[in-house]
Amino acid sequence: MEKTQLQDLLGQMTQAEKIDQLQQLMAAFYSEKAEEKTGPMGDLDLTEENIKNAGSTLGISGAKEAIRVQKSYMENNRLHIPTLLMADIIHGFRTIFPIPLGLGATWDVAAAEKMAEISAKEAAVSGLHVTFSPMVDLVRDPRWGRVMESTGEDPFLNSRFAEAFVKGYQGEDLTHDFMRVAACVKHFAAYGAAIAGRDYNTVNMSERQLRESYLPGYHAAIQAGAKLVMTSFNTVDGIPATGNKWLFRDVLRDDLGFEGTVISDWGAISEMIPHGVAANEKEAAELAIKAGVDIEMMTSTYSHYLAELIAEGRIDAGLVDEAVLRILELKNDLGLFENPYRGADETAEAALILCEDHRQAAREIAEKAIVLLKNEAVLPLKATEKVALVGPAAASNDVLGAWSWQGQKAEAISLAQAFAKDQSVVSGTETFDYFTPSEAAVAEALTLAKTADKVIVALGEADWMSGEAASRTDIRLPQAQLDFFKKILAVNENVIVTLYNGRPLDLRELDGAKAIVEAWFPGTEAGHALKNILTGAVNPSGRLSMSFPESVGQVPVYYNTDNTGRPYESAPDEKYVSKYLDCSNYAKYPFGFGLSYSNFNYSQLTLSSDTMTASESLVASVTVTNDSAVAGVETVQLYLRDLVGEVVRPLKELKGFQKVSLAAGESKTVRFTITEDLLRYVHPNQIASSDAGSFTLTIGGSSVSGLSSDFQLIK
Ligand code: GLC
Repeated sequence: MEKTQLQDLLGQMTQAEKIDQLQQLMAAFYSEKAEEKTGPMGDLDLTEENIKNAGSTLGISGAKEAIRVQKSYMENNRLHIPTLLMADIIHGFRTIFPIPLGLGATWDVAAAEKMAEISAKEAAVSGLHVTFSPMVDLVRDPRWGRVMESTGEDPFLNSRFAEAFVKGYQGEDLTHDFMRVAACVKHFAAYGAAIAGRDYNTVNMSERQLRESYLPGYHAAIQAGAKLVMTSFNTVDGIPATGNKWLFRDVLRDDLGFEGTVISDWGAISEMIPHGVAANEKEAAELAIKAGVDIEMMTSTYSHYLAELIAEGRIDAGLVDEAVLRILELKNDLGLFENPYRGADETAEAALILCEDHRQAAREIAEKAIVLLKNEAVLPLKATEKVALVGPAAASNDVLGAWSWQGQKAEAISLAQAFAKDQSVVSGTETFDYFTPSEAAVAEALTLAKTADKVIVALGEADWMSGEAASRTDIRLPQAQLDFFKKILAVNENVIVTLYNGRPLDLRELDGAKAIVEAWFPGTEAGHALKNILTGAVNPSGRLSMSFPESVGQVPVYYNTDNTGRPYESAPDEKYVSKYLDCSNYAKYPFGFGLSYSNFNYSQLTLSSDTMTASESLVASVTVTNDSAVAGVETVQLYLRDLVGEVVRPLKELKGFQKVSLAAGESKTVRFTITEDLLRYVHPNQIASSDAGSFTLTIGGSSVSGLSSDFQLIK
């Protein structure tokens, strides 16, 4: 449909029909099963007419159900406007990929795009039109349960992944390519900065820090074409995002240039009442529509009060028209007016869902996500060794992680299943509980461990221990697992720990392990991917995208920190410097870190010049050598430091990375072009620009290693 036709359609709509288009309701409202029509149905106090004409729904899936709902909806809608079917497809639809914190550890944007493309295909044939992804909230606090949904602590890395997700979901022609879905970037804004890592808590930061560190990820998704933005539950400078006019009209629309649809998070409009900025639903509705929130998810303040607010002259009817028009444009961008059923297709659904190609992609991406944190010459396993596989996660299918909605744990491969045919690896048969292991399970494990050359101790969080509303103040493994680990270590010193978890953990109590393998929640192909890493069939290449603290007491601890006026490094023996009495200042496993079975060396860092200008870029080159007998993949990382700024500048900032495959003994020259835009930062005037002056460039295999050289920006 042409835009003018959408305007005509808007003109034909009654005020009630317009307001209904702004309503989003959960699947239960459209269920054929009467028993599902309970709970929130009554709370929202909506009429059958409201329900029939609600502009979108969330949580419907399955081609048959989607077709039924759309058919019924269009028959009942006077103007036959199609509805929008949305859902949370965060790291896979039915084929589940590693959680986004694991995807971040791949440092492989092509892998992220592939994941999104496959997710979109499986979702589209199941009848969905929109995914509430990518979540690009920058995170620095592992107490927060939703760090699992983020790609990590760095604005540059998050931005590259945001672009890749949107491209994978939406493709090049969303209107006609029915194997794609619209992307909804979330949660705008700075949800990851909740005070004390407690979900939904207040966010307090300067506008400058918001623009410098937290907005780039959303901006990258918008520039990549994301069709929707979702509001965040938290406040931004004292005002809940969902009613924050400055945030959504001045920043999102004017500064970041977003022209698409804004959707509230679940219930977030009504939550402005407990937040204390709205006395009642009517005031909440007024704040939200004035802020530019187009779709109200699962509360009904718009339905109940917008007409009244217009009649009283408290809001202009044009605010409703602009919101409805954006929703009609979204439906049009998805081709729904011409093809209301879009990709929904039961035959294609049966062929594509969880097909072998998708499982293989999930396995390969899970392998890339796994980070080898420690290895004292015990990995890879040798086929001749006798290995005991013990612990609660050994035979567990709790490997999908939070936000794996349609994923089925029963379809996932456990580590024990992956090793089932290997004569050299022996697993227990007792069920091993994550929190209260039976004496029989522990006894069986000890028996296996005593006679093994090496012991794989598979530990982890349960999936409900991270994700939404899953903040933890103690970020260690469950005590029973730590106690079990010590018992195994007492009978066999060659312990390899594997981890399934949704956040950086405090791993100090595992220091006795000779190897630690971070697998996150790897997804449907968990066991196959982890086995391939442990046996060396695949050389680990993951690098952390979020720091692992020594202790939760350090949190937030992150690599791109400021130097302070009393830097510990300049006087480590001094009392009055920035340090702790009882812990180091540093992450135990830092951003960008990960081991390999290869050994990569850096040499010959050279700059094309030691000065550059806004128009004359500079090229840095370095030689990377794999001086081992094992081919591998290194993630070469470029960091810059602005030595003097109008504001304090971080010790280092990631400004580029390249994944480089190196055969045994091979060397390659890796080049980075430094352009002036990489030197910009948000000044006190809230505008990003660069200053003439000195910079240090570092290229290496993590945020704590590499070769450095200085250069000048001349203006
Ligand atoms: C949840 C989450 C949001 C999700 C939405 C719909 O509360 O905050 O990320 O997309 O509701 O499920």
